[in-house]
Amino acid sequence: MIIGVLKETFPGEQRVAFSPANIKAMAKNDNLTFYVQESAGVASGLLDEEYQAVGATITSRETIWAEANVICQVHSGGSNATLSEHDIANLRPDQVVIGMADPLANPAFAQQVAEKGASAIALELVPRITRAQSMDVLSSNAMLAGYKAVLTAASESKQMFPMNMTAAGTLSPAKVFIMGAGVAGLQACATAKRLGAVVSAYDIRPEAQEQILSVGAKPIQLDLTAEKGEGGYAKEQSTEFIKRQQELMTEVMVQQDVIITTAAIPGRPSPILVTEEQVKAMKPGSVIVDLAAERGGNCALTRLGETVVEHGVTIVGPANVPACLPAHGSQMYGKNMENFLKLLVAEDGSLNFDFDDEIIKDTVMTYQGEVVNNRIRGLLNLPVNEA
Ligand code: NAI
Repeated sequence: MIIGVLKETFPGEQRVAFSPANIKAMAKNDNLTFYVQESAGVASGLLDEEYQAVGATITSRETIWAEANVICQVHSGGSNATLSEHDIANLRPDQVVIGMADPLANPAFAQQVAEKGASAIALELVPRITRAQSMDVLSSNAMLAGYKAVLTAASESKQMFPMNMTAAGTLSPAKVFIMGAGVAGLQACATAKRLGAVVSAYDIRPEAQEQILSVGAKPIQLDLTAEKGEGGYAKEQSTEFIKRQQELMTEVMVQQDVIITTAAIPGRPSPILVTEEQVKAMKPGSVIVDLAAERGGNCALTRLGETVVEHGVTIVGPANVPACLPAHGSQMYGKNMENFLKLLVAEDGSLNFDFDDEIIKDTVMTYQGEVVNNRIRGLLNLPVNEA
């Protein structure tokens, strides 16, 4: 069994899907051979020599596509649609591609893989069950993004975050408000708190209140009851709910120096939590970092990949934030991938596609030329497969 690790081609992506440490951890299985594309880990600080030291073969992208049975990527063709034509053309029927694939936004990738007779696994579809936590790339990404969002806000802000009593007078602490207190939001709360800001946060999930308190932030409560989602995720709320939420939130927003938004609904555009009117009402010089920018943004004025100043407020719409922290990003992604491979690869080196296992069933989009995942089949308007 040859497992190939490709160098990422997605713009700005500096991570690598598998590190020397992950290869070492799997080395006790003699039936596995690792091929790593030349300089695949360099941007993460991982040299070819380190891969060679754990027994990997450094080789070309072409050789990996020609010989590997499993291809490991951070962004597979699904989440790197514009740059993956060549890769998809190279796919062989017996190959399995594992990586992030943006499956709910780009289900067409599953179909492209099917047309090649190959198999594809989307790591974003790992279910939210305890056994799968160690494979959950979305949690890893969110954790990194929440941290980086606060640093970005701090560097864009015109003031320091902590309170300081100096000979030149007392500097009041920055007020930071986090909207959406999932993995990214809670990490943002904790990071802003460590920098000395006064932190508050809001989420539509009532259970988030306790989690907000646990990281030292103040939960903001609104007189609103949201519809409950499934699998730990939030549900898309009605237009009336979002409108009422915006109205009630204005009073909180106008007091803030920094707002970090993280609210997401899987497979749906992000809800608008900050309108243009609210931006106008904010203090000039304040900062919004919109972590939902890739899904349309939580602020009406966000522009993906840009930092703009509107009505005196700096609005940052970053893309692919975890790529900015490639050392820890690769460490976390690689560990998630390693744990997934340990589930998929049997002792004899063969691949164990056990569709009775919830993790395999949920993550395999395409298996040997057929789109098998019912969520993806639904998006492609294909008839749903009976269990
Ligand atoms: P996410 O990235 O899907 O969304 C971010 C946050 O935005 C969520 O907390 C969501 O409730 C919130 N949100 C959505 N619409 C909103 C609105 N209109 N206003 C305010 N907030 C809104 O969520 P994430 O970070 O993936 O986590 C969601 C939950 O799942 C958390 O409780 C987390 O602890 C849990 N989780 C469980 C895992 C497991 O059991 N294996 C793994 C990862 C997360």
